[in-house]
Amino acid sequence: MLKFESESNTQQTAAAVSAAKPQYLATEPRSFFMTVRDIGFWIRSSRADARMSRERHEHGAAAAFDGLYSRSADPYGAELPQYRYQQRKYDSLLSMLPQRRFQSVLDIGCGRGAFTRKLAPYSAEILGTDISEVAIAQARMLSKSHPNIQYSSAPMLEAPATEQRFDLIVLADTLYYTEAPSAERFETISHNIGSRLVPGGLLLLVNHYFFGIDPASRATRMTHDIFRANPELTCVAEHRRAFFLATLLQRPQM
Ligand SMILES: C[S@@+](CC[C@H](N)C(=O)[O-])C[C@H]1O[C@@H](n2cnc3c(N)ncnc32)[C@H](O)[C@@H]1O
Repeated sequence: MLKFESESNTQQTAAAVSAAKPQYLATEPRSFFMTVRDIGFWIRSSRADARMSRERHEHGAAAAFDGLYSRSADPYGAELPQYRYQQRKYDSLLSMLPQRRFQSVLDIGCGRGAFTRKLAPYSAEILGTDISEVAIAQARMLSKSHPNIQYSSAPMLEAPATEQRFDLIVLADTLYYTEAPSAERFETISHNIGSRLVPGGLLLLVNHYFFGIDPASRATRMTHDIFRANPELTCVAEHRRAFFLATLLQRPQM
């Protein structure tokens, strides 16, 4: 178990408080996440998802995401300078991770690799994977100055495409695109991903979370609870922020 256990955004366990000073990869941003301009970020993302969702029915998910990334550089606005939301969010996610050098990191649904590159300074080797070949081609171009990042469009969510084990797996803003989502499907995904962690390895799961009562937030809560109920994983931290839920899980040491 990690020494820095903190179970919610409001409560820290007595163990965490009395443990040696926790060290994380970043300091959590203190100021409010969004500016008025960030409303444009949400509109952009919603439009991207609406169009992708229509195209997915006709052409399948891979082609729909390929179309999205072909039509627009940075369709989710992750690195557009006029929006600060996503960069703040990435800093917030880094602030959940313990300060250490990860040996082998897997970023599933990495898109153009915006968060993958944030992890590069803390990792020996990173593999970013995405269902979209177009996103992967763009991620490779954008990551030329990071020789420790490899990219692949091999499927990683369900059927393990590699025997490799990782000490950090990131699954950020990807699970809600799962086709035919159901509790059983998420249990299978949780098991597949958990089994690819080394003992002591971490899984960072992130999904949109708004006000707790809307359908998207309820779906996120249910999905994270399924991962938390996986007996192969232990929850070590959970942050509920505007507007996401991030859960850090660990495969226990043998
Ligand atoms: C909103 S983007 C998130 C990008 C990145 N994780 C981030 O947080 O910046 C969602 C990504 O998930 C990818 N994706 C959707 N379904 C996937 C699947 N089954 N396997 C791998 N990637 C998938 C999409 O192609 C898209 O690039």
